[in-house]
Amino acid sequence: MKKILITGGAGFIGSHVVRRFVQNYPDYQIVNLDKLTYAGNLANLTDIENAPNYRFVKEDITDAVAMSDLFGKENFDAVIHLAAESHVDRSITDPTAFVMTNVIGTVNLLNAAREHWKGEYDQKRFYHVSTDEVYGALGEEGMFTETTAYDPHSPYSASKASSDHFVRAYHDTYGMDCVISNCSNNYGSHHFPEKLIPLAINNIKNNKPVPVYGKGENVRDWLWVEDHARAIDVIFHQSKTGDTYNIGGHNEWKNIDLIHLLCEIMDEKLGREKGESAKLITYVTDRAGHDLRYAIDSTKLQNQLAWVPSLQFEEGLAKTVDWYLQNEAWLNNVTSGNYQSYYDKQYSEK
Ligand SMILES: NC(=O)c1ccc[n+]([C@@H]2O[C@H](COP(=O)([O-])OP(=O)(O)OC[C@H]3O[C@@H](n4cnc5c(N)ncnc54)[C@H](O)[C@@H]3O)[C@@H](O)[C@H]2O)c1
Repeated sequence: MKKILITGGAGFIGSHVVRRFVQNYPDYQIVNLDKLTYAGNLANLTDIENAPNYRFVKEDITDAVAMSDLFGKENFDAVIHLAAESHVDRSITDPTAFVMTNVIGTVNLLNAAREHWKGEYDQKRFYHVSTDEVYGALGEEGMFTETTAYDPHSPYSASKASSDHFVRAYHDTYGMDCVISNCSNNYGSHHFPEKLIPLAINNIKNNKPVPVYGKGENVRDWLWVEDHARAIDVIFHQSKTGDTYNIGGHNEWKNIDLIHLLCEIMDEKLGREKGESAKLITYVTDRAGHDLRYAIDSTKLQNQLAWVPSLQFEEGLAKTVDWYLQNEAWLNNVTSGNYQSYYDKQYSEK
């Protein structure tokens, strides 16, 4: 029996990680801690919310006292830490929120673990989920490896880089068992429609302009979210202490090519004439400091822990479109913000 704290489990990737652990490890108790910001949605987890090995706790990782109390009460065996402010555009508007949650929140969790796991560090694990954006931008060539120097450019990536450094420092300084993974862009179901792929699907569906930054030349390496959750599972169980793994799909796409592919899939799924959805593409002023290209070399993970991505991008994208078209209520609820007013009422006593 293990008790695992998963933070940010009501978000996009976190909900896939929570579902995987609840379903695959019935002898683990999974505690999902989430503040339920605009990006956190318990409707992402309705299929497992009544599982006997699952529990939800509404807390804010920026609250150091609450984190220490929780660790004192629960005796967790491990933490898988995903809670974060995650949208680059929002970090440009309000960097401080990113420092608070991504840096201070991570340090609060590390301190709570350090305090309550003392004497047992070799039996406890702190797994920090991070991003490839900490490595900065690539030119036309090359890939990020685990030894690429950090060079973050946006307030989001700077805050994630900072949190990675703190996690490594707690391993090196206090001997805590810490592990980090840095993953490329994820796509799949339950993705909040402010991010490129779900935003485009939603706008194409509603015949609204599909905004593309600059000339759409930016390149991202896309990974099916369930492959990320499986990588986290493998690394969590098999990684050496203090180790780092890059996770990526070897699947680079220019934004504009990706949007064209999405438009083709949507034309077919919605019974539109070929080329109709692509008419919605609208070029908008580029994001400030927009990194040109990310590409992840995940050879270490593939060779050492035998993980490989399971889905081709075309297949994964078609599955993703199907999910959004079949889950209209989820999408409408999220875009209208109804779930937020529900949570405001539901948790107003806190
Ligand atoms: N989305 C990607 O493509 C991607 C790629 C690599 C790494 N990551 C990392 O994976 C993690 C999850 O990303 P995501 O895309 O699922 O993000 P998300 O924005 O969908 O979810 C983040 C979750 O964290 C919760 N949260 C935010 N602030 C909190 C706080 N102060 N206390 C407690 N909970 C809080 C939110 O309510 C939400 O449920 C992040 O750490 C992110 O940096 C994301």
